[in-house]
Amino acid sequence: MIECHNLTKYYDKFKALDDLNLSIAEGEIFGFIGPNGAGKSTTIKVLTGLLQPTKGSATINGLDCASGAKELRYQVGYMPDNFGVYEGLKVWEYLDFFCAAYKIPKKERTECIDRVLDITSSGRIKDFYMEALSKGMKQKAGLAKTLLHDPAVVILDEPSSGLDPRARIEMRELIKKLKEMGKTIMVSSHILTELAEISDQIGIIEKGVLLASGKVSEVMGEFRQELRYEVEILSDSKRASKAMSLFTEKGMVGDVEDLGSLFSFVIPSGEEKDAAKILELLIKNKIIIKSYRPVESDLEDVFLKVTNQHGNEE
Ligand SMILES: Nc1ncnc2c1ncn2[C@@H]1O[C@H](COP(=O)(O)OP(=O)(O)OP(=O)(O)O)[C@@H](O)[C@H]1O
Ligand SMILES: [Mg+2]
Repeated sequence: MIECHNLTKYYDKFKALDDLNLSIAEGEIFGFIGPNGAGKSTTIKVLTGLLQPTKGSATINGLDCASGAKELRYQVGYMPDNFGVYEGLKVWEYLDFFCAAYKIPKKERTECIDRVLDITSSGRIKDFYMEALSKGMKQKAGLAKTLLHDPAVVILDEPSSGLDPRARIEMRELIKKLKEMGKTIMVSSHILTELAEISDQIGIIEKGVLLASGKVSEVMGEFRQELRYEVEILSDSKRASKAMSLFTEKGMVGDVEDLGSLFSFVIPSGEEKDAAKILELLIKNKIIIKSYRPVESDLEDVFLKVTNQHGNEE
């Protein structure tokens, strides 16, 4: 549905996108994640035909995004990260204006506006002035506008930026609703956890390079190389410290963090059975254990690891 092939974009001599390849299947939510300046908006602008790529190509439904094909405008709904609003327009007037831009016949517009207000649960702000909307309301009105022509593909550039936690949840729910309606969705954010739960696939971009992409679990798996365990003890921590030093000397554990009654360490072999062996040895050393468990690396750890690795390679 959405494809980027060796997409490269220079702004003068600055390379903002470097040989980007990605593929988003019909009906999927693709979470596009990267820190500030990573190239998310640049990619999105190429996909929406606002920027021409320097090299490579992008297609939506087989149509070249750089072609300016009218059909693309009808197939794609795009919500920019920052969109201006015309002062003195009520929400319904703003939507009516865009209905006209999409050449939706006059007699269909009321129904069309009511439909998008209903999808975005924004009926009550219909008569509010655009400039008087809170950030959360404005984003909903912007999303309503994006859906007026019932596009098959919806591209949202940081729709949750600047929203409070409740509004963020609402935006996530809205994105899920769009998926249920059968739409293909690309949504960007600089926060991985924001999108992980709702995305079928994610792509992590930094400095114009797509560092990882795939299902959330695959990307997590790829970058979770170390097996880290945590042991909480009830007995004398000096004894445990000593045991840990010994295990470290023997290369059985690495990167030990000693927090007194809690130790965290890496099993260098990455084998569960070696973690079990450590537990056995701790018990043999008469250390009373409260808990012993693997440390799950969370999404933010993965994100930091992915982007750090990239930084170290340079
Ligand atoms: N019109 C432009 N002219 C020159 N450089 C640009 C232009 N637009 C973007 N850039 C640069 O290209 C890089 C990528 O920018 P882009 O806006 O795509 O990043 P982003 O991932 O959307 O970041 P953010 O999270 O801040 O929105 C940045 O270093 C930015 O400074
Ligand atoms: Mg951006």
